[in-house]
Order: sequence, then structure tokens, then C-alpha cells
Amino acid sequence: MSSPHTTSASRTNTLFLSPQDVASIIGRQGMAATLQGMATYIRQDFLRWESFDKAPRVASHSPDGVIELMPIADASRYAFKYVNGHPKNTAQGLSTVMAFGVLADVATGTPLLLSEMTLTTALRTAATSAVAARALARPDSRVMALIGNGAQSEFQALAFHHLMDIEEIRLYDIDLAATAKLMHNLQANPDAAGLRLIACASVADAVRGADIVTTITADKTNAAIITADMLEPGMHINGVGGDCPGKTEIHHGVLRAAKVFVEFEPQTRIEGDLQHLPAEFPVTELWQVLSGQKPGRDNANQITMFDSVGFAMEDFSALRYLFDQAQTLRLGAPIALIAQLSDPKDLYRLIRPMPARSERAATQVDAHVALTETA
Ligand SMILES: NC(=O)c1ccc[n+]([C@@H]2O[C@H](COP(=O)([O-])OP(=O)(O)OC[C@H]3O[C@@H](n4cnc5c(N)ncnc54)[C@H](O)[C@@H]3O)[C@@H](O)[C@H]2O)c1
Repeated sequence: MSSPHTTSASRTNTLFLSPQDVASIIGRQGMAATLQGMATYIRQDFLRWESFDKAPRVASHSPDGVIELMPIADASRYAFKYVNGHPKNTAQGLSTVMAFGVLADVATGTPLLLSEMTLTTALRTAATSAVAARALARPDSRVMALIGNGAQSEFQALAFHHLMDIEEIRLYDIDLAATAKLMHNLQANPDAAGLRLIACASVADAVRGADIVTTITADKTNAAIITADMLEPGMHINGVGGDCPGKTEIHHGVLRAAKVFVEFEPQTRIEGDLQHLPAEFPVTELWQVLSGQKPGRDNANQITMFDSVGFAMEDFSALRYLFDQAQTLRLGAPIALIAQLSDPKDLYRLIRPMPARSERAATQVDAHVALTETA
């Protein structure tokens, strides 16, 4: 990767991508290709799991939400995401999830990319869910229940339609307006052509007969939205909204009935639906399945569950993807986030008071005289 839109004069410039820039990438590539592209980068990075310096994210909890920092690095790139989760935000016109992120050069520490990640998080979460489902769900899955029809939901629907061949989605949200919004957005969207959408009256109604169940609700409570009595042989549960201590969606009976897969076990034990189960409850990390080291689903009747919480590596992959696309499409703006110095040891020069014009002229005359005298 080279520096963004650079000349030698702007070696420290950072490429800035706004939400409009990311929307332009989707507009230029198409939604299906964007989701597929991001899924490819995510899968590639899962396949080189050992090359990452990994740690659970750092969370700062408050009564109504959480703010998290998600750092990760390989030998050449460092990335972090700032992200919040405040389920009550929508009542005051703010998003539940808001994010931005940075991709930097490990060799010099130069920040290469500063990007919006609210839209990007929805894309990367949907792409990750699809990568997991491709490895874990039954390949003949065609019907999905989508519980929680908020900001992330269209992206999940489109990722499963394009990357998993899902043909019918059964929708449920406690907020009827959210379901109507999701219906409206997808019905008017050529990207969702051929996708059947059915609004359901209850969770049980939506889940009945589904091959895949995606839960992507937001509520800071230990909810039990999916219970063991709703399970049918061969179902795959894509549990996305339970991602914080004290914020879960799936009854522990579902996990006990399933083979459970996670992103990064130390983080999911703290944040996932897994938090309700003892430390010795067995789980498999997704990278082990993708790399062929461990089996995924054992048979067509088994219940599988991806207990997703969102791991920093997925944001690293997403930022890599955006950086590459933005340079190819020449999108984004180079910004001088970092001070540019002709003498890197002279940072003080940035704040050194400039002499007034008359003083400057006098100084130049003095210097000229001094030079002439010494000549
Ligand atoms: N695992 C990950 O990687 C990841 C990534 C992004 C977001 N998330 C999580 O996904 C969730 C959804 O995010 P969002 O941005 O779409 O939030 P949002 O607030 O826009 O939408 C959440 C929806 O869930 C609905 N809901 C709440 N309780 C429900 C219940 N009991 N049954 C049915 N519906 C219910 C709400 O009415 C709302 O429409 C959040 O919890 C967020 O933290 C996880």
C-alpha cells in the first residue's frame, strides 16, 4: 500500500473518508460487490490469524451505554476503531452505534487513513456474519429470520441475500416502524430484487421454519429473545446484538443446545451471549474452521451458533478494503492531520511567533549585511 494521493511534499498526509465517501465506494462498486469485497478481505485476515497482535477491546461502561477502543496490528499495519453502543440514543435522534477508525503504517507510525466507520461497521458486521454463515450454516439455507430491524438490519439482509443465497427474510422488531422502514428500504432497492420479505407478528412466528436466525437487537439488558423451544434441527443462529456485559439476546439453553463458534474467545467470554455460561463451556474460534484446523457443523441436523461480538481484526480488514478502494477510485481527501515539518526536530517552529513584516524586512537586511561583511 502506498501513501494516499501523495507527492513527496505530503508524506505525512492522511486520507480522510467521510460517510459520503464510503457511500460513494458502495455506489461505484455496487452493494453486492462491496459486501463480497469486504468479506474477502475479512476471510483473508482470518486465514492469517497468527500474524495479528490481538487483545480484547477496551470498554468504558456507563449506565446507558459503552464506548470501546479496538486496537490490532500485524507486521505492517496498525488499526483501531472507536465505537459506542447506546441503545437509548435513537429516542433522541442519535445512532445506537457510531464509529470512526484509523489505519497506520507500523514502520513509521504514520496514520494513513482516518475513516468514518458507522456505515463501515454495518458493512463489516454483515460481511463477517456471512463469512461465518458460509462456513457454518447448511448450504441449502434459503430462509432467514431477522430479529431487530434497526440501522444494521438492511446490511445483514443484503449480505445474506448476496453471499448466502437467502431468498426469504422473516422480519420482527418490537418497533413496528423499524420493520416498516426495513421493508421500505429493501422493496425500493434493486439490490434486494428477488428477496421475499415477510413481516411477522412475533419472534416465534419469524423463527418458525427459518434456516438461519439473525438477532441484531439493541437493549442494555440480558434478554432471552431466542429460547431453546424455538430451535429446529439444522438451524444456524447468527447472534449479533449481544455484545457487551449485561447486554445479551439469546437464552443460555440455546447455546447449550448448539455448537458455538466465536471470533476471539477471550473477548467473547466477557461480551457475548457466552457470558452466561461457565468458563469451560466449549467453543471454537471461527478462524480454526476457515483454515480447516477444526470442523464447523458436524451434520445437517446440528444447531450451530455464531456468537458475534465484533472483533478488531474485522475493522482492520474493512479499513484495508476502504483504503485500497479509495485509492483506486480516487475518493477521499488528503488532510494534514499530522504536522508537516521541514525540520522534524523543529516542532516549535509551528508556534514560533512570526516577526512583524517591518521586523522581518529589517532581519533580512541585517542578515544580508552580515553575509556581505563576512564575504
Ligand atoms: N457483533 C457485532 O459485530 C456488532 C456490530 C454492530 C452492532 N452490533 C449490535 O447490533 C445491535 C443493533 O445495532 P443497530 O445499530 O441496528 O441498533 P438500532 O438501535 O438501530 O436497532 C436495534 C433494533 O432492535 C430493536 N429491538 C430492541 N429490543 C428488541 C426485542 N426484544 N425484540 C425485537 N427487536 C428489538 C429496536 O426496536 C431497534 O429497532 C446493537 O446491539 C449493536 O450493539 C453488533
